[in-house]
Amino acid sequence: MSSEKGLSAPSATPSAPSFGPPTVELCKGVNGLDKLVLREPRGSSTEVYLYGCHVTSWKNDHGEELLFVSSKAVFKPPKAIRGGIPICFPQFSNLGSLEQHGFARNRLWAIDTDPPPFPTTTSSKTFVDLILKPSEDDLKIWPHSFEFRLRVALGPGGDLLLTSRIRNTSTDGKPFTFTFAYHTYFSVSDISEVRVEGLETLDYLDNLQNRERFTEQGDAITFESEVDKIYLSTPTKIAILDHEKKRTFVLRKDGLPDAVVWNPWDKKAKAMADFGDDEYKHMLCVEAAAVEKPITLKPGEEWKGRQELSAVPSSYCSGQLDPRKVLQGS
Ligand code: BG6
Repeated sequence: MSSEKGLSAPSATPSAPSFGPPTVELCKGVNGLDKLVLREPRGSSTEVYLYGCHVTSWKNDHGEELLFVSSKAVFKPPKAIRGGIPICFPQFSNLGSLEQHGFARNRLWAIDTDPPPFPTTTSSKTFVDLILKPSEDDLKIWPHSFEFRLRVALGPGGDLLLTSRIRNTSTDGKPFTFTFAYHTYFSVSDISEVRVEGLETLDYLDNLQNRERFTEQGDAITFESEVDKIYLSTPTKIAILDHEKKRTFVLRKDGLPDAVVWNPWDKKAKAMADFGDDEYKHMLCVEAAAVEKPITLKPGEEWKGRQELSAVPSSYCSGQLDPRKVLQGS
């Protein structure tokens, strides 16, 4: 662990060169908000705002942006940033009295200076650890003590890894229950040219039809109108193929059985103040999530949920995502 290049505390790292050793730099982003910039020697990078522990940029080693962030995104509390990877906790969606998608995405996180040991099998050496604990006000709306630790790591080949660890730290003996999502907005060339593989034939809850349960039909998922579905118990690997860009995103997940697929399409896009009218054409949310079966933690218990993203050229074989093969290895 000591040889790793993660940032455990803000350091006065000078401006990093585009190519050089792996670096983690704390600097100011939009509206003076603090952000951390991680860079890998081959040129890939990612940016994380302390506001929301929100990843707002992920670039490959050619400097191409892989995440969508709206040109109208508001970088100002209490609005969550529209795009990138918002963290939905302690709830996905807008059930009950909690705000839509919970409050983790619009709280100020801290750099975790002393994270507990982090058993990891990845080769990533460039990472940051952030932590969220509830404030007095948070405890009024969600009366549960927790520590939410999130590691954002950039692999040597440019893969982006997010690992969440949520612990029940309450002393009142009470368990708590939550739902969760990494609400990833992928940047795509043209939504009508995009196909998602790995979710065929699965059951889903349709958010556009009162969460009624259906079974997906057909070979692969394509887009020609608004979509808002929660696919249940999916394989651990999902692919988003962008034909025009000749690029495939591969999403791998662990501890997160479900996957939400969302595109607002034209009407909903127009209704969102922080989203351009035509921007729905250039984004697709595929979200590693735990929604159908909420997670319960007793005091002292910890949950871990991981998402790994990679972007590969589209020679990536179609049909590779046969669930039987996917479950055998990845
Ligand atoms: C998706 C939900 O995950 O997020 C949609 O399935 C929702 O129903 C969308 O509209 C955006 O939510 P928000 O709160 O960021 O506008």
